[in-house]
Amino acid sequence: MPLPTLLQNRLDLPVIGAPMLLPCSPPLTIAQCTSGIVGAFPALSARPAEQLDEWLAEISEALSAFAAKNPGKKVAPFAVNQIVHKTNPRLDRDMETVIKHKVPMVVTSLGANADVVKAVHAYGGIVFHDVAQARHAERALEQGVDGLVLLCAGAGGHGGSLNPFAFVAEVRRFWKGPLAVAGGITTGDAVAAVRAMGADLAYIGTRFAASVESRIDDNYKSHILRCTAKDILFTPYFSGVHTSLMKTSIAACGFDPDDPKLLLKSDATYGIDTTKENPKRWTELLAAGQGVGNIDAILPVAGIVATLKREYAAALDGLRA
Ligand SMILES: Cc1cc2nc3c(=O)[nH]c(=O)nc-3n(C[C@H](O)[C@H](O)[C@H](O)COP(=O)(O)O)c2cc1C
Repeated sequence: MPLPTLLQNRLDLPVIGAPMLLPCSPPLTIAQCTSGIVGAFPALSARPAEQLDEWLAEISEALSAFAAKNPGKKVAPFAVNQIVHKTNPRLDRDMETVIKHKVPMVVTSLGANADVVKAVHAYGGIVFHDVAQARHAERALEQGVDGLVLLCAGAGGHGGSLNPFAFVAEVRRFWKGPLAVAGGITTGDAVAAVRAMGADLAYIGTRFAASVESRIDDNYKSHILRCTAKDILFTPYFSGVHTSLMKTSIAACGFDPDDPKLLLKSDATYGIDTTKENPKRWTELLAAGQGVGNIDAILPVAGIVATLKREYAAALDGLRA
């Protein structure tokens, strides 16, 4: 399936740098786009809300200036992630800002919405929606989205639990359009595997959280360097939504990461306020995906993408041999 026109001949590698609340800000997005991959950031990363307007202006200006100076280079479009859920009080305001700046691509999460899709289509943008289950994919397609992101097992943040081979094959039975796959992708070989399994784009978060341009502090980055896949706990305990967190940070917050109670929703989600359990330190729970086991250095985005490109080309040659 060809990519949407917006992405055709604009990418050096079939990759979207995934939106991540704490790590993302303009330097990361700009570095991803100028390296030839889509850079996405959550609208909610810009705080207060007025900052979104400034960020979008900064990113657009930086990408235009880079393109003017480097006419031979591909500069990928950028994307803004919108949480389309009643708990997001900023949605309408942030959508106005997105429309004002004609953001090329919007990635929606936690609820596809036909009004958002229509508003983005009206100025020529495209909308992808991220899903962890096939029925959510069907619902999003009914709302008119242009592409899907499949959140698979091992993905950082609010990931999914499905095996990517199984999930892609199931969704491909009813959707032939653009498909991105997320979950533990840190190598160009894995990007090639995404293509080989019948999807179009790799959606990569954690690898870029551990980059020079990522906004998280050194403590967070050092947790990523120390952890391996076995240190990631996919737990609904703290927020009520399954989230991949680093066990080292769970321990640092005073919990036993191997306590079976963490595999269940906490009482808070049943109406009892357990946030009193350890209120101050819950903000120190650190999200990351199972790809941490292949990350042992904090590198600039350009270097990460250059390695991914090299590995991707070698993997494709290997598949053809
Ligand atoms: C630190 C961190 C923060 C994240 N924040 C968000 C977010 O704000 N919105 C969102 O839609 N996804 C968020 N995600 C999920 C990513 O968009 C993406 O689905 C995931 O990182 C892909 O899996 P990977 O980390 O294994 O590459 C976050 C992921 C991480 C690691």
